[in-house]
This record gives sequence, C-alpha cells and structure tokens, in this order.
Amino acid sequence: MFPDSSSFAYSLALLTSVSDVVVWCDVQLTKDGDGICGPFLTLENFTNIADVFQNQGTSYLVNGVSMKGYFSIDFTLNDLSNVSCKLEFI
Ligand SMILES: *[C@@H]1O[C@H](CO)[C@@H](O)[C@H](O)[C@H]1NC(C)=O
Ligand SMILES: *[C@@H]1O[C@H](CO)[C@@H](O)[C@H](O)[C@H]1NC(C)=O
Repeated sequence: MFPDSSSFAYSLALLTSVSDVVVWCDVQLTKDGDGICGPFLTLENFTNIADVFQNQGTSYLVNGVSMKGYFSIDFTLNDLSNVSCKLEFI
C-alpha cells in the first residue's frame, strides 16, 4: 500500500498492529549522522533521489566491490528533505 520503509508504511503498521509491536528497519546513516530507513544500499533503488539530484551519484568499495549510486553518507538529512520513497523499485 505504501513504499517500503516510508513513514506512511511504518505508521500504518503501528496503527494496525498489537500495542507492543516492534518494527524493523535497515538503518543507513546520513552525512550528518542521522539514521534513515531503506531497503537497499543505493538510494536511487527506492527513492526519487536521481530526479532531485541529477548526476550526483558517487562510487564506493562495498565489501570489496565497487558500487556506483547515491549513498546516504553523501547527503545530510536536510539535503534529503525533497527526496521521497518510491512505490515501485527499479
Ligand atoms: C539498483 O538500481 C540499479 C540501476 O539504477 C540496478 O542496476 C541495480 O540492480 C539495483 N539494485 C537492486 C538491489 O535492486
Ligand atoms: C527543496 O525544493 C524546494 C523547491 O524546489 C527548494 O527551494 C529547496 O531548496 C529544496 N531543498 C533542498 C534541501 O534541496
């Protein structure tokens, strides 16, 4: 019903669950040390970040393998204020 890891999805899960439910999230840190939830390491796989910040992806070695894309560590939480979760993944 809502994008994976979006605040709407978590809110609905909490509203429709038993009172002591625990929700789970893949936490990724932003440049300024805030935590965001996301199901994939690269932000473009679950958000519209590639539309908001065009051609600003970077590259990192992840587990010894070079990965290109948009990484949370390159953006502050404020930078991400115009970025939203997508309903369908690429
Ligand atoms: C993320 O998106 C890229 C294309 O932008 C694609 O090559 C890659 O397979 C995707 N990764 C996952 C985990 O879906
Ligand atoms: C968010 O979008 C608005 C409208 O385009 C823009 O004025 C603002 O600077 C953007 N904020 C960030 C943090 O990019």
